[in-house]
Amino acid sequence: MKSSTVSADPSAIPASNAPAVRILAIESSCDETAAAVVENGRSILSSIVASQADLHARYGGVFPEVASRMHIQAIYPVIQQTLQDAYLSLTDVDAIAVTRGPGLPGSLVVGMNVAKGLALSTGLPLIGVNHLEAHLYSAWLYNEPQSSAKTNQDPPALPEFPLLALIVSGGHTELVLMRDHLTYQFLGSTLDDAAGEAFDKVARLIGLDYPGGPAIQKAAERGNPRAFSFPRAWLDDSWNFSFSGLKTAVLREVRRLEQVRTELPVADLAASFQAAVVEVLVSKTLRAAENFEAKEILVAGGVSANRALRLTFQEQAPCRVHIPPIELCTDNAAMIAGVGYHRFLRGQRDGLEMDVLPNWPLSEL
Ligand code: KG4
Ligand code: ZN
Repeated sequence: MKSSTVSADPSAIPASNAPAVRILAIESSCDETAAAVVENGRSILSSIVASQADLHARYGGVFPEVASRMHIQAIYPVIQQTLQDAYLSLTDVDAIAVTRGPGLPGSLVVGMNVAKGLALSTGLPLIGVNHLEAHLYSAWLYNEPQSSAKTNQDPPALPEFPLLALIVSGGHTELVLMRDHLTYQFLGSTLDDAAGEAFDKVARLIGLDYPGGPAIQKAAERGNPRAFSFPRAWLDDSWNFSFSGLKTAVLREVRRLEQVRTELPVADLAASFQAAVVEVLVSKTLRAAENFEAKEILVAGGVSANRALRLTFQEQAPCRVHIPPIELCTDNAAMIAGVGYHRFLRGQRDGLEMDVLPNWPLSEL
């Protein structure tokens, strides 16, 4: 096989009577071992996610060596189950897409090597994809209803370009203008902690478990978002974000409260912190959408599972906001297949010498 190549025709979309393109995808960039089969970048035929979150919870975060070992144990059963659920074998798929980066090196290598092994043994094309770009493509996905339970529901609306996209995950916070498929104008990112990282760190500060995002969301439901007025970093003349000042403000408040009270007001702290993050993320995204005359907004990545964030976007946005269903916000392989499809159409084919890229910014695509 040759190294990565891309064909000259970027807009090659198959005719409606063309046979469906099925991509088998593998994701192992962090602490989820996942595989999926997706048709035409949109219809999920099957998707399995084996989460290690419970295991890492006892360390208060992802323990990289444990993650790699768990990926090794889980990956073949996960792929087998995925194919079985879709009633397919490897001969029924057109290509194998795999997360190349960014992510934990030891975790990425497991998925990459398995994908290479499958490509070598079947002769199927191999496509290495960027995990952040894949998060964006979760907005195009929907679950194909089982044939025995066909509903007459239409697939969700297709996002329309130009799109203003916000990616908020455990490792990244990025604002990107998407003018077409696979076409990005990088606007800004976090200067320090990612939004998800801030949720995870603040959760630990106030005594909540890993992963911190869902724990803070749950605690915040009982809290007052105005109980503490935590700072918002607006960084006015840029599209960048910063969450480390907010994290430090929570830390200072926790230290102060520990001097004067026996029990922390966890719900109020969680609600006030969450409100500060949500306000900055939503306001900046809406402002960028207006400034760059985006038609619609797309929000993706683990933090987009957050209920307050979803509600605030839906309430305040003057245009359609695409936010994937919860199970597609956090790491999964269906999104890898989603972007893999568009890269497949463009003619991307990667060789067996392809290596993982643990630090692969979206701006380098
Ligand atoms: O996209 P993702 O699953 O993995 C990465 O690529 O990083 O994102 C994981 C991040 C974690 O920081 C987690 O705390 C956060 O997403 N997260 C949430 C929620 N669910 C997951 N943050 C806020 N609210 C949630 N409901
Ligand atoms: Zn992710």
